[in-house]
Amino acid sequence: MNILILGSGGREHSLAWAVKQNPKCDRLIVAPGNAGIAALAECADLDIMDGAAVVAFCETNTIDFLIIGPEAPLAAGVADAARAAGILTFGPSAAAAQIEASKAFTKQLCDDARAATASYARFTEAEGAKAYIRQQGAPIVVKADGLAAGKGVIVAMSEAEALAAIDDMFGGSFGTAGAEVVIEEFMEGEEASYFVLSDGVNVLPIGTAQDHKRAFEGDAGPNTGGMGAYSPAPVLSDAIAKMALEEIVKPCVAELAKRGTPYQGVIYAGLMIKDGLPRLVEFNARFGDPECQVLMMRLGAQALDLLMACAEGKLDSAQVNWADDHALTVVMAAKGYPGTYEKGSVIRGLETMPETSRQMVFHAGTAMKDGQIVATGGRVLNVTARAATLAEAQAEAYRMLDGIDWPEGFARRDIGWRAL
Ligand code: AMP
Ligand code: GLY
Repeated sequence: MNILILGSGGREHSLAWAVKQNPKCDRLIVAPGNAGIAALAECADLDIMDGAAVVAFCETNTIDFLIIGPEAPLAAGVADAARAAGILTFGPSAAAAQIEASKAFTKQLCDDARAATASYARFTEAEGAKAYIRQQGAPIVVKADGLAAGKGVIVAMSEAEALAAIDDMFGGSFGTAGAEVVIEEFMEGEEASYFVLSDGVNVLPIGTAQDHKRAFEGDAGPNTGGMGAYSPAPVLSDAIAKMALEEIVKPCVAELAKRGTPYQGVIYAGLMIKDGLPRLVEFNARFGDPECQVLMMRLGAQALDLLMACAEGKLDSAQVNWADDHALTVVMAAKGYPGTYEKGSVIRGLETMPETSRQMVFHAGTAMKDGQIVATGGRVLNVTARAATLAEAQAEAYRMLDGIDWPEGFARRDIGWRAL
Protein backbone atom coordinates (compact mmCIF):
# COMPACT_ATOMS: atom_id res chain seq x y z
CA MET A 1 0.00 0.00 0.00
CA ASN A 2 0.95 3.66 -0.46
CA ILE A 3 1.31 5.67 2.73
CA LEU A 4 1.62 9.42 3.30
CA ILE A 5 2.88 10.85 6.59
CA LEU A 6 2.50 14.58 7.29
CA GLY A 7 5.22 16.33 9.28
CA SER A 8 8.94 17.04 9.36
CA GLY A 9 10.26 16.28 12.83
CA GLY A 10 11.85 13.47 14.79
CA ARG A 11 8.35 12.19 15.53
CA GLU A 12 7.64 11.75 11.82
CA HIS A 13 11.09 10.25 11.15
CA SER A 14 10.41 7.57 13.75
CA LEU A 15 6.89 6.95 12.40
CA ALA A 16 8.32 6.57 8.89
CA TRP A 17 11.07 4.28 10.18
CA ALA A 18 8.58 1.95 11.89
CA VAL A 19 6.01 2.00 9.07
CA LYS A 20 8.69 1.28 6.45
CA GLN A 21 9.65 -1.95 8.20
CA ASN A 22 6.18 -3.38 7.73
CA PRO A 23 5.88 -5.47 4.55
CA LYS A 24 2.45 -3.91 3.90
CA CYS A 25 4.18 -0.64 3.09
CA ASP A 26 5.09 -0.37 -0.59
CA ARG A 27 5.52 3.33 -1.22
CA LEU A 28 6.17 5.79 1.60
CA ILE A 29 5.96 9.55 1.17
CA VAL A 30 6.56 12.09 3.93
CA ALA A 31 5.58 15.73 3.49
CA PRO A 32 7.58 17.83 3.92
CA GLY A 33 10.07 15.47 5.65
CA ASN A 34 13.72 16.24 6.42
CA ALA A 35 17.22 15.03 5.50
CA GLY A 36 16.99 11.93 7.72
CA ILE A 37 13.56 10.97 6.44
CA ALA A 38 14.80 11.35 2.85
CA ALA A 39 17.09 8.36 3.43
CA LEU A 40 14.11 6.01 3.84
CA ALA A 41 11.13 7.67 2.15
CA GLU A 42 10.24 10.07 -0.62
CA CYS A 43 9.89 13.64 0.63
CA ALA A 44 7.23 15.83 -0.97
CA ASP A 45 6.66 19.53 -0.96
CA LEU A 46 3.07 19.99 0.21
CA ASP A 47 1.20 22.54 2.33
CA ILE A 48 0.18 20.20 5.14
CA MET A 49 -2.18 22.83 6.62
CA ASP A 50 -4.30 22.83 3.47
CA GLY A 51 -6.85 20.00 3.57
CA ALA A 52 -7.81 20.35 -0.10
CA ALA A 53 -4.16 20.23 -1.16
CA VAL A 54 -3.55 17.13 0.97
CA VAL A 55 -6.61 15.40 -0.53
CA ALA A 56 -5.51 16.26 -4.07
CA PHE A 57 -2.02 14.94 -3.34
CA CYS A 58 -3.46 11.69 -1.96
CA GLU A 59 -5.60 11.23 -5.05
CA THR A 60 -2.74 11.94 -7.48
CA ASN A 61 -0.45 9.51 -5.65
CA THR A 62 -3.12 6.87 -4.90
CA ILE A 63 -2.46 7.07 -1.16
CA ASP A 64 -4.13 4.24 0.78
CA PHE A 65 -3.35 5.49 4.26
CA LEU A 66 -2.70 8.98 5.62
CA ILE A 67 -0.94 9.52 8.96
CA ILE A 68 -1.03 13.05 10.39
CA GLY A 69 1.87 13.77 12.77
CA PRO A 70 1.61 17.31 14.21
CA GLU A 71 -1.29 19.03 15.98
CA ALA A 72 -1.59 22.09 13.71
CA PRO A 73 -3.05 20.28 10.66
CA LEU A 74 -5.34 18.30 12.98
CA ALA A 75 -6.68 21.48 14.56
CA ALA A 76 -7.06 22.93 11.04
CA GLY A 77 -9.32 20.04 9.97
CA VAL A 78 -7.01 18.18 7.59
CA ALA A 79 -8.23 14.81 8.93
CA ASP A 80 -11.84 15.89 8.33
CA ALA A 81 -11.07 16.81 4.72
CA ALA A 82 -9.26 13.52 4.10
CA ARG A 83 -12.01 11.37 5.65
CA ALA A 84 -14.68 13.26 3.71
CA ALA A 85 -12.76 12.33 0.55
CA GLY A 86 -12.78 8.66 1.56
CA ILE A 87 -9.10 8.46 2.54
CA LEU A 88 -8.24 6.11 5.39
CA THR A 89 -6.77 8.54 7.96
CA PHE A 90 -4.97 8.35 11.28
CA GLY A 91 -5.62 11.47 13.34
CA PRO A 92 -8.65 13.09 14.98
CA SER A 93 -11.16 15.53 13.50
CA ALA A 94 -10.77 19.21 14.31
CA ALA A 95 -13.67 18.88 16.75
CA ALA A 96 -12.01 16.01 18.64
CA ALA A 97 -8.53 17.58 18.41
CA GLN A 98 -9.84 20.32 20.70
CA ILE A 99 -8.64 18.07 23.53
CA GLU A 100 -5.28 19.67 22.70
CA ALA A 101 -6.27 22.88 20.95
CA SER A 102 -8.37 24.21 23.85
CA LYS A 103 -7.51 23.84 27.54
CA ALA A 104 -11.00 25.04 28.51
CA PHE A 105 -12.55 22.38 26.26
CA THR A 106 -10.57 19.66 28.04
CA LYS A 107 -11.44 20.93 31.51
CA GLN A 108 -15.14 20.84 30.58
CA LEU A 109 -14.66 17.37 29.06
CA CYS A 110 -13.10 16.14 32.29
CA ASP A 111 -16.00 17.61 34.28
CA ASP A 112 -18.57 15.90 32.05
CA ALA A 113 -16.65 12.59 32.11
CA ARG A 114 -15.83 12.89 35.83
CA ALA A 115 -12.13 12.41 35.06
CA ALA A 116 -9.63 13.42 37.74
CA THR A 117 -7.80 16.67 36.99
CA ALA A 118 -6.80 19.92 38.73
CA SER A 119 -9.62 22.19 39.86
CA TYR A 120 -9.89 25.31 37.71
CA ALA A 121 -11.70 28.44 36.62
CA ARG A 122 -11.97 30.12 33.20
CA PHE A 123 -11.70 33.84 32.44
CA THR A 124 -12.02 36.13 29.45
CA GLU A 125 -10.98 39.32 31.26
CA ALA A 126 -8.12 40.23 33.59
CA GLU A 127 -9.97 41.60 36.64
CA GLY A 128 -11.87 38.41 37.43
CA ALA A 129 -8.76 36.30 36.79
CA LYS A 130 -6.67 38.41 39.17
CA ALA A 131 -9.31 38.31 41.88
CA TYR A 132 -9.39 34.51 41.59
CA ILE A 133 -5.58 34.30 41.86
CA ARG A 134 -5.57 36.54 44.97
CA GLN A 135 -8.27 34.38 46.50
CA GLN A 136 -6.53 31.05 45.69
CA GLY A 137 -2.93 32.12 46.37
CA ALA A 138 0.27 30.59 44.94
CA PRO A 139 1.56 28.23 43.66
CA ILE A 140 -0.99 28.34 40.88
CA VAL A 141 -0.97 27.59 37.15
CA VAL A 142 -2.03 30.06 34.44
CA LYS A 143 -2.75 28.69 30.95
CA ALA A 144 -3.60 30.33 27.65
CA ASP A 145 -6.60 28.45 26.28
CA GLY A 146 -5.35 27.87 22.73
CA LEU A 147 -2.33 26.36 20.99
CA ALA A 148 0.75 28.34 22.00
CA ALA A 149 3.59 26.08 20.83
CA GLY A 150 4.13 24.75 24.35
CA LYS A 151 4.67 28.25 25.80
CA GLY A 152 1.18 29.03 27.02
CA VAL A 153 1.55 27.54 30.51
CA ILE A 154 2.95 29.51 33.43
CA VAL A 155 3.50 27.51 36.61
CA ALA A 156 3.59 30.46 39.00
CA MET A 157 5.32 29.91 42.34
CA SER A 158 4.28 33.38 43.56
CA GLU A 159 1.10 35.41 43.29
CA ALA A 160 3.02 38.24 41.59
CA GLU A 161 4.19 35.89 38.86
CA ALA A 162 0.65 34.65 38.27
CA LEU A 163 -0.71 38.21 38.10
CA ALA A 164 2.02 39.15 35.62
CA ALA A 165 1.08 36.13 33.49
CA ILE A 166 -2.50 37.40 33.37
CA ASP A 167 -1.34 40.82 32.13
CA ASP A 168 0.82 39.08 29.56
CA MET A 169 -1.93 36.85 28.23
CA PHE A 170 -4.66 39.47 28.09
CA GLY A 171 -2.04 41.89 26.74
CA GLY A 172 -1.89 39.71 23.63
CA SER A 173 1.47 37.92 24.11
CA PHE A 174 -0.13 34.69 22.97
CA GLY A 175 -2.37 36.17 20.28
CA THR A 176 -5.84 34.67 20.08
CA ALA A 177 -4.64 31.64 22.08
CA GLY A 178 -4.66 33.92 25.14
CA ALA A 179 -8.11 35.43 24.63
CA GLU A 180 -9.36 32.97 27.24
CA VAL A 181 -7.33 31.87 30.24
CA VAL A 182 -7.64 28.80 32.43
CA ILE A 183 -6.35 29.08 35.99
CA GLU A 184 -5.60 25.76 37.64
CA GLU A 185 -4.74 24.32 40.99
CA PHE A 186 -1.02 23.49 41.16
CA MET A 187 -0.59 19.70 41.27
CA GLU A 188 2.39 18.10 42.96
CA GLY A 189 3.75 14.73 41.97
CA GLU A 190 5.68 13.03 39.20
CA GLU A 191 4.69 13.50 35.56
CA ALA A 192 4.46 10.73 32.99
CA SER A 193 2.85 10.29 29.61
CA TYR A 194 0.41 7.60 28.59
CA PHE A 195 -0.31 6.84 24.94
CA VAL A 196 -3.62 5.26 24.02
CA LEU A 197 -5.09 4.67 20.57
CA SER A 198 -8.81 5.35 20.21
CA ASP A 199 -10.90 4.40 17.18
CA GLY A 200 -13.85 6.37 18.50
CA VAL A 201 -15.25 3.49 20.54
CA ASN A 202 -12.43 1.10 21.48
CA VAL A 203 -9.15 2.04 23.12
CA LEU A 204 -5.74 0.34 23.10
CA PRO A 205 -2.80 1.49 25.25
CA ILE A 206 0.47 1.47 23.29
CA GLY A 207 3.03 2.60 25.82
CA THR A 208 4.21 4.93 28.54
CA ALA A 209 7.05 7.45 28.52
CA GLN A 210 8.65 10.26 30.46
CA ASP A 211 10.39 13.25 28.97
CA HIS A 212 12.73 15.96 30.23
CA LYS A 213 11.24 19.36 29.53
CA ARG A 214 14.00 21.59 30.94
CA ALA A 215 16.96 22.57 28.77
CA PHE A 216 19.77 21.75 31.19
CA GLU A 217 21.00 18.93 33.38
CA GLY A 218 19.29 18.32 36.69
CA ASP A 219 16.03 19.58 35.13
CA ALA A 220 17.24 23.19 35.30
CA GLY A 221 16.89 26.05 32.81
CA PRO A 222 14.06 27.08 30.53
CA ASN A 223 11.22 24.86 29.34
CA THR A 224 11.66 23.21 25.94
CA GLY A 225 9.66 20.90 23.72
CA GLY A 226 11.55 18.02 25.37
CA MET A 227 15.27 17.24 25.61
CA GLY A 228 14.98 13.47 25.81
CA ALA A 229 12.60 10.67 26.71
CA TYR A 230 12.43 7.04 27.66
CA SER A 231 9.88 4.26 27.62
CA PRO A 232 8.48 2.60 29.64
CA ALA A 233 7.97 5.09 32.50
CA PRO A 234 8.44 3.15 35.75
CA VAL A 235 6.22 5.59 37.67
CA LEU A 236 3.28 4.58 35.47
CA SER A 237 2.97 1.10 36.95
CA ASP A 238 0.44 -1.32 35.47
CA ALA A 239 -1.97 -0.52 38.29
CA ILE A 240 -1.71 3.25 37.82
CA ALA A 241 -1.91 2.93 34.03
CA LYS A 242 -5.08 0.86 34.41
CA MET A 243 -6.58 3.53 36.66
CA ALA A 244 -5.70 6.22 34.12
CA LEU A 245 -7.26 4.16 31.34
CA GLU A 246 -10.46 3.28 33.18
CA GLU A 247 -11.04 6.53 35.05
CA ILE A 248 -9.62 9.20 32.72
CA VAL A 249 -9.11 8.09 29.11
CA LYS A 250 -12.11 5.79 28.60
CA PRO A 251 -14.69 8.15 30.14
CA CYS A 252 -13.37 11.03 28.00
CA VAL A 253 -13.46 8.89 24.83
CA ALA A 254 -17.03 7.85 25.68
CA GLU A 255 -18.05 11.46 26.33
CA LEU A 256 -16.59 12.60 22.98
CA ALA A 257 -18.50 9.81 21.20
CA LYS A 258 -21.70 10.74 23.04
CA ARG A 259 -21.32 14.34 21.86
CA GLY A 260 -21.11 13.15 18.24
CA THR A 261 -17.39 13.94 17.93
CA PRO A 262 -15.71 10.51 18.30
CA TYR A 263 -11.94 10.56 18.77
CA GLN A 264 -9.93 8.62 16.18
CA GLY A 265 -6.19 8.74 16.66
CA VAL A 266 -3.69 8.70 19.49
CA ILE A 267 -4.52 10.25 22.83
CA TYR A 268 -1.43 11.46 24.62
CA ALA A 269 -2.40 11.86 28.27
CA GLY A 270 0.01 13.88 30.39
CA LEU A 271 -0.54 12.63 33.93
CA MET A 272 0.51 13.83 37.37
CA ILE A 273 0.99 10.91 39.75
CA LYS A 274 0.92 11.31 43.50
CA ASP A 275 0.27 8.74 46.22
CA GLY A 276 -0.48 6.11 43.58
CA LEU A 277 -3.23 8.17 41.93
CA PRO A 278 -3.10 9.69 38.43
CA ARG A 279 -4.66 13.03 37.54
CA LEU A 280 -4.79 14.58 34.09
CA VAL A 281 -2.46 17.52 33.35
CA GLU A 282 -3.29 17.76 29.67
CA PHE A 283 -4.32 15.82 26.60
CA ASN A 284 -2.53 16.05 23.28
CA ALA A 285 -4.08 14.92 20.02
CA ARG A 286 -0.84 13.51 18.59
CA PHE A 287 2.23 11.56 19.56
CA GLY A 288 4.74 13.35 21.79
CA ASP A 289 7.99 14.49 20.31
CA PRO A 290 10.45 12.98 21.33
CA GLU A 291 8.23 10.41 23.13
CA CYS A 292 7.11 8.97 19.78
CA GLN A 293 10.72 8.08 18.96
CA VAL A 294 11.03 5.73 21.94
CA LEU A 295 7.55 4.28 21.41
CA MET A 296 8.26 3.56 17.73
CA MET A 297 11.62 2.03 18.54
CA ARG A 298 9.85 -0.39 20.91
CA LEU A 299 6.87 -1.15 18.65
CA GLY A 300 8.73 -1.43 15.33
CA ALA A 301 6.81 -2.67 12.28
CA GLN A 302 3.62 -3.52 14.21
CA ALA A 303 3.07 0.24 14.62
CA LEU A 304 1.58 0.34 11.11
CA ASP A 305 -0.92 -2.45 11.90
CA LEU A 306 -1.95 -0.65 15.08
CA LEU A 307 -2.38 2.75 13.42
CA MET A 308 -4.42 1.13 10.63
CA ALA A 309 -6.62 -0.80 13.07
CA CYS A 310 -7.21 2.53 14.80
CA ALA A 311 -8.17 4.30 11.56
CA GLU A 312 -10.40 1.40 10.46
CA GLY A 313 -12.32 1.22 13.74
CA LYS A 314 -10.96 -2.26 14.50
CA LEU A 315 -9.05 -1.71 17.72
CA ASP A 316 -11.28 -4.26 19.48
CA SER A 317 -9.44 -7.01 17.59
CA ALA A 318 -5.95 -5.43 17.69
CA GLN A 319 -3.26 -6.23 20.19
CA VAL A 320 0.24 -5.06 21.00
CA ASN A 321 3.07 -7.58 21.05
CA TRP A 322 4.90 -6.22 24.05
CA ALA A 323 8.61 -6.83 24.47
CA ASP A 324 10.31 -6.56 27.81
CA ASP A 325 12.64 -3.81 26.65
CA HIS A 326 13.52 -0.16 27.21
CA ALA A 327 14.20 2.66 24.79
CA LEU A 328 15.81 6.04 25.43
CA THR A 329 16.35 9.04 23.20
CA VAL A 330 18.64 12.03 23.72
CA VAL A 331 17.87 15.27 21.89
CA MET A 332 20.75 17.19 20.34
CA ALA A 333 19.74 20.83 20.04
CA ALA A 334 21.37 23.92 18.55
CA LYS A 335 23.26 25.96 21.18
CA GLY A 336 20.95 28.73 22.35
CA TYR A 337 17.75 26.65 22.06
CA PRO A 338 15.03 27.24 23.31
CA GLY A 339 16.11 30.89 22.85
CA THR A 340 17.74 32.16 19.68
CA TYR A 341 20.15 29.89 17.83
CA GLU A 342 22.04 29.74 14.55
CA LYS A 343 20.84 27.66 11.63
CA GLY A 344 22.94 26.08 8.92
CA SER A 345 25.84 24.56 10.89
CA VAL A 346 27.24 21.33 9.47
CA ILE A 347 26.78 18.02 11.34
CA ARG A 348 29.45 15.36 10.75
CA GLY A 349 29.79 11.74 11.75
CA LEU A 350 26.22 10.69 11.03
CA GLU A 351 27.41 8.30 8.30
CA THR A 352 29.21 6.25 10.98
CA MET A 353 26.03 5.79 13.05
CA PRO A 354 24.51 2.32 13.30
CA GLU A 355 20.99 1.98 11.89
CA THR A 356 19.43 -1.14 13.37
CA SER A 357 16.23 -2.13 15.12
CA ARG A 358 17.97 -1.03 18.35
CA GLN A 359 19.92 2.05 17.28
CA MET A 360 18.75 5.01 15.24
CA VAL A 361 19.52 8.69 14.98
CA PHE A 362 16.18 10.27 14.12
CA HIS A 363 16.38 13.69 12.49
CA ALA A 364 14.24 16.47 13.92
CA GLY A 365 15.52 19.57 12.15
CA THR A 366 17.97 18.89 9.33
CA ALA A 367 18.39 19.49 5.63
CA MET A 368 20.86 18.37 2.99
CA LYS A 369 22.94 21.23 1.61
CA ASP A 370 25.78 20.77 -0.86
CA GLY A 371 26.08 17.12 0.10
CA GLN A 372 26.27 17.85 3.83
CA ILE A 373 23.70 17.54 6.64
CA VAL A 374 22.99 20.94 8.19
CA ALA A 375 20.94 21.94 11.23
CA THR A 376 17.72 23.78 10.41
CA GLY A 377 15.90 23.89 13.75
CA GLY A 378 16.23 24.16 17.52
CA ARG A 379 15.91 20.48 18.25
CA VAL A 380 17.96 18.79 15.55
CA LEU A 381 18.72 15.10 16.25
CA ASN A 382 17.23 12.36 18.47
CA VAL A 383 19.86 9.77 19.31
CA THR A 384 17.83 6.68 20.17
CA ALA A 385 18.69 3.22 21.50
CA ARG A 386 16.78 0.18 22.76
CA ALA A 387 18.09 -2.50 25.11
CA ALA A 388 17.08 -5.02 27.77
CA THR A 389 17.52 -2.43 30.51
CA LEU A 390 17.16 1.34 30.65
CA ALA A 391 20.77 1.69 31.82
CA GLU A 392 22.02 -0.15 28.74
CA ALA A 393 19.80 1.87 26.42
CA GLN A 394 21.14 5.05 28.01
CA ALA A 395 24.77 3.94 27.71
CA GLU A 396 24.29 3.07 24.04
CA ALA A 397 22.52 6.34 23.20
CA TYR A 398 25.39 8.35 24.73
CA ARG A 399 27.99 6.14 23.04
CA MET A 400 26.34 6.97 19.70
CA LEU A 401 26.00 10.65 20.59
CA ASP A 402 29.72 10.89 21.30
CA GLY A 403 30.37 9.84 17.69
CA ILE A 404 28.49 12.84 16.31
CA ASP A 405 30.68 15.80 15.45
CA TRP A 406 28.58 18.94 15.81
CA PRO A 407 30.30 21.70 17.83
CA GLU A 408 27.30 24.02 17.45
CA GLY A 409 25.01 21.54 19.21
CA PHE A 410 24.42 20.49 22.82
CA ALA A 411 22.66 17.70 24.69
CA ARG A 412 21.80 16.90 28.29
CA ARG A 413 23.98 14.12 29.70
CA ASP A 414 21.44 12.94 32.26
CA ILE A 415 18.44 11.74 30.24
CA GLY A 416 16.76 8.95 32.19
CA TRP A 417 18.10 9.94 35.63
CA ARG A 418 14.72 9.88 37.30
CA ALA A 419 14.21 6.22 36.40
CA LEU A 420 17.77 4.99 37.03
P1 AMP B 1 0.75 21.60 29.57
O1 AMP B 1 1.06 22.38 28.34
O2 AMP B 1 -0.67 21.70 30.07
O3 AMP B 1 1.27 20.19 29.53
O4 AMP B 1 1.67 22.22 30.71
C1 AMP B 1 3.06 22.22 30.58
C2 AMP B 1 3.68 21.76 31.86
O5 AMP B 1 3.28 22.61 32.92
C3 AMP B 1 3.25 20.38 32.30
O6 AMP B 1 3.99 19.38 31.68
C4 AMP B 1 3.50 20.45 33.78
O7 AMP B 1 4.87 20.25 34.06
C5 AMP B 1 3.14 21.86 34.11
N1 AMP B 1 1.77 21.93 34.58
C6 AMP B 1 0.65 22.13 33.83
N2 AMP B 1 -0.45 22.15 34.60
C7 AMP B 1 -0.05 21.94 35.87
C8 AMP B 1 -0.72 21.85 37.12
N3 AMP B 1 -2.04 22.02 37.22
N4 AMP B 1 0.03 21.62 38.22
C9 AMP B 1 1.36 21.50 38.13
N5 AMP B 1 2.06 21.58 36.99
C10 AMP B 1 1.37 21.80 35.87
N1 GLY C 1 7.50 16.30 24.40
C1 GLY C 1 6.30 16.96 24.70
C2 GLY C 1 5.32 17.08 23.63
O1 GLY C 1 5.45 16.51 22.56
O2 GLY C 1 4.34 17.78 23.81
